[in-house]
Amino acid sequence: MVHHPSQVIAVTGATGLVGSALVSSLEQAGHAVLRLVRRPVQNAEQESYWNPSTGEIDADVLEGVDAVVHLGGANVAKQRWSNAYKQVLRSSRIDSTTLLARTIASLQQKPRVLVTASAIGFYGSRGDELLDEESPIGSGFLAELCHDWEEANQPAREAGVRVCQMRIGVVLSPEGGALKKILPIFRKGLGGPMGSGKQYVSWIGLPDVVAALEFAIDHDAINGAVNTMAPHPVTSREFANSLGQQLGRPSFLPTPAFALRMMVGWEMAEALLLGGAKIAPRKLEAEGFVFQHPTIAEALAAVLSR
Ligand SMILES: NC(=O)c1ccc[n+]([C@@H]2O[C@H](COP(=O)([O-])OP(=O)(O)OC[C@H]3O[C@@H](n4cnc5c(N)ncnc54)[C@H](OP(=O)(O)O)[C@@H]3O)[C@@H](O)[C@H]2O)c1
Repeated sequence: MVHHPSQVIAVTGATGLVGSALVSSLEQAGHAVLRLVRRPVQNAEQESYWNPSTGEIDADVLEGVDAVVHLGGANVAKQRWSNAYKQVLRSSRIDSTTLLARTIASLQQKPRVLVTASAIGFYGSRGDELLDEESPIGSGFLAELCHDWEEANQPAREAGVRVCQMRIGVVLSPEGGALKKILPIFRKGLGGPMGSGKQYVSWIGLPDVVAALEFAIDHDAINGAVNTMAPHPVTSREFANSLGQQLGRPSFLPTPAFALRMMVGWEMAEALLLGGAKIAPRKLEAEGFVFQHPTIAEALAAVLSR
């Protein structure tokens, strides 16, 4: 590992669940963070305007930054997957990544590393087969999206920049994402497994995602696709049990598959709720990354106590 004491790190999606936690952790560690923002700049020292949908970006401000972390993209679970919203999900990731990667490739002083989000949607729904970074791509909308999102990094890679695509699992935080949505139901004692409850949830606590992104920034041996989830995936039933225990509430009431399909639409229900994949964080572990919260009980206890 190479230690890079105080760095300048550009971050997109800095207002999001992961981005805001990463920015505060980087700043606490003494790094300077340049946020690429899509609204008018309010603090010129910390922000630079970009608009991934019109291709606007100020390349000059990226000259000489040490690392770029790309976390921007329209929220996958925000609304039903109409054809129009699917296009937003794709373009907000693929066009933005292409713009960043091309801009990075054009710089005189390129960053050491481009770390971009990807997702476990790459693997599709795979039963209880244990998957790692070598496993082939799955099928479905999310798998294709993740594939094209990862490929969009190519200009930066071809320009000699180290590129990491973090295939992030279900991020656990009461502040956002899946856990925030289901917490009120579990707190009422009405939560439980989804559908059969046998599908795997490859999850990760928010503090460990932030640590894994920082690890990827700092470890020059980490490259390419990086599975970013805890080493102990659980079934939907185990997840519900553990959350119920943490909250001291019953959690045995399953939500039937048909109800989930009616609530969020068939395709999203299959991809995000009823399907799942059991995935190992092989590269992170091989490089010596140590999870703060490797088990679901530890992670839920930690994030719910914050
Ligand atoms: N949370 C999870 O469980 C999870 C799991 C797997 C993968 N991921 C991926 O990790 C990344 C960060 O996740 P997150 O949970 O922090 O997401 P998030 O809370 O939804 O935040 C994403 C950020 O992206 C920017 N954004 C929103 N709409 C956009 C659009 N149409 N075009 C471009 N940028 C847009 C926004 O930041 P600005 O307004 O500051 O630009 C937003 O705060 C995402 O790419 C997500 O797909 C997340």
